[in-house]
Amino acid sequence: MRCLVFLLFVALANAKVYERCEWARVLKNYGMDGYRGISLADWVCLSHRESNYNTAAINPYNTDGSIDYGIFQINSRWWCNNGVTPTSNGCNIRCSELLTDNVRVAINCAKRVVRDPQGIGAWVAWRNHCKNRNLSSYVAGCGL
Ligand SMILES: *[C@@H]1O[C@H](CO)[C@@H](O)[C@H](O)[C@H]1NC(C)=O
Repeated sequence: MRCLVFLLFVALANAKVYERCEWARVLKNYGMDGYRGISLADWVCLSHRESNYNTAAINPYNTDGSIDYGIFQINSRWWCNNGVTPTSNGCNIRCSELLTDNVRVAINCAKRVVRDPQGIGAWVAWRNHCKNRNLSSYVAGCGL
């Protein structure tokens, strides 16, 4: 039991929950503001609705058996390989790489996702909660 708790600690040790403006700054530093015409506020809204800014977020409840990973909740059927879901692995990564505080991998994969024709519309949470909304509050007070 103690061993299990320790392993859990190690597994979670490099996960991170961002604060809103902190995450907005990281996104901006990685060139996400205006990437493919998508505003910083859209990315922040998307991350808030998908993961609450938590790099360790996992959703195993998709009806097709696929799993969503990380701060952008990227899907194992299309974008990453978890060793279980049949995948096209469009980002050419292991899904576990989307769960760490090294967000470079997740951000590069999100960029890959929006280069497809549906763009940011690939994310259901963005369509349902961010699209055609006033998102100014997502970057308000961040000094960006
Ligand atoms: C969006 O909301 C902000 C803050 O409530 C407001 O100042 C701004 O005028 C709104 N923008 C639009 C286009 O409605």
